Amino acid sequence: MAEHTGVGPDDDPFYQTIEVDTEVTGDDGTYEDELSSCTESVTSIRDYRQEHGRRYHSYHDGRYLLPNDDAEAERLDMMHEMMLMMMGQRLFLAPITDNPQQVLDLGTGTGIWALDFADRFPDAESGLSTPGVFHVPDTVTDNADMISSGPPNVNFIVDDMEDEWAFPEQQKFDFIHARFLALGIKDFPRLLKQCYNNTVPGGWVEFQDWDLNMYSQDGSTNGTSIEQYYNIGIRAYEKTGHIVSPGPFLEQWFQEAGFTEIHVHKYLLPMGPWPKEEHLKSLGMWNLLQASTGFEASALAVLTRYENWNPSDVAHLAERAKLDARDRNIHALFDFYVVYGRRPL
Ligand SMILES: C[S@@+](CC[C@H](N)C(=O)[O-])C[C@H]1O[C@@H](n2cnc3c(N)ncnc32)[C@H](O)[C@@H]1O
Repeated sequence: MAEHTGVGPDDDPFYQTIEVDTEVTGDDGTYEDELSSCTESVTSIRDYRQEHGRRYHSYHDGRYLLPNDDAEAERLDMMHEMMLMMMGQRLFLAPITDNPQQVLDLGTGTGIWALDFADRFPDAESGLSTPGVFHVPDTVTDNADMISSGPPNVNFIVDDMEDEWAFPEQQKFDFIHARFLALGIKDFPRLLKQCYNNTVPGGWVEFQDWDLNMYSQDGSTNGTSIEQYYNIGIRAYEKTGHIVSPGPFLEQWFQEAGFTEIHVHKYLLPMGPWPKEEHLKSLGMWNLLQASTGFEASALAVLTRYENWNPSDVAHLAERAKLDARDRNIHALFDFYVVYGRRPL
């Protein structure tokens, strides 16, 4: 093989004169400007907003007001465990077929539900076909490093689910699932209509969501800081147009979208291990655990960006709510809804 060691035109057949762009050298003779604009474009999709010690999504910046950092990922994974416990280890209640082909998980977060779903529907031995699990991750999941790597049949998509969906006409879903979209969505009726339009005839859609109106059966939350926390937070989110408590309205929105065979399950979800009954006690413990970072995560952006609060005042409010949640004499409770329906054949 020929060896090309020279740099001159005479001894190197590949030699070509490269003209120097005299424009690129700045006053200080370095490439600072070019380097920084290049770094900016490379990192734009990961250009998360860093604010008051938390990290937020960049795609459609500001669209979703909870963080997408490690602490939030940990909290979402805790809530997944809590849901499995609440629903008897079931990921969903809808009577879907044994071989769903196309499944969509809206607002997937860390992707933990979809990864679990893909695990539970393996193809090979059972002869079932592999479900194609898709996500419309979010805003949060423009956070690729939040998602653990998954099986090849799981595909993550970054999109805003409140925009028009760009799935091709032939790609309708057998099952669409959405969980914990409270505080994230402004127009649930429209979202459910989009779900309907993108489901195969006979396919199912299931939403699992909060009623975030915290209450107690014995009046023990009356006049507490935790009550104040929820009142302030709910009011602020309502002003931004986000729906805070979709749970109780899901049935009506499913009906309006055209679904049939609608089923509603309402669960009681305590905060704290105060119930006597063992199952509810464990659930309450998980709920308390997720709330230990959840109080601040849910309130920080909405109160500092929209209500002009100081971050330290939000921290104080969250801390007082947390102390109340841990108080044995305060028995906070939530309603949680699982609603599913079918697109008629
Ligand atoms: C509380 S997390 C729930 C995550 C996941 N569904 C779960 O159950 O673990 C809400 C998720 O919805 C996403 N989200 C909120 N609004 C969205 C939107 N308009 N488009 C896409 N994703 C959105 C957020 O980014 C976040 O990951």
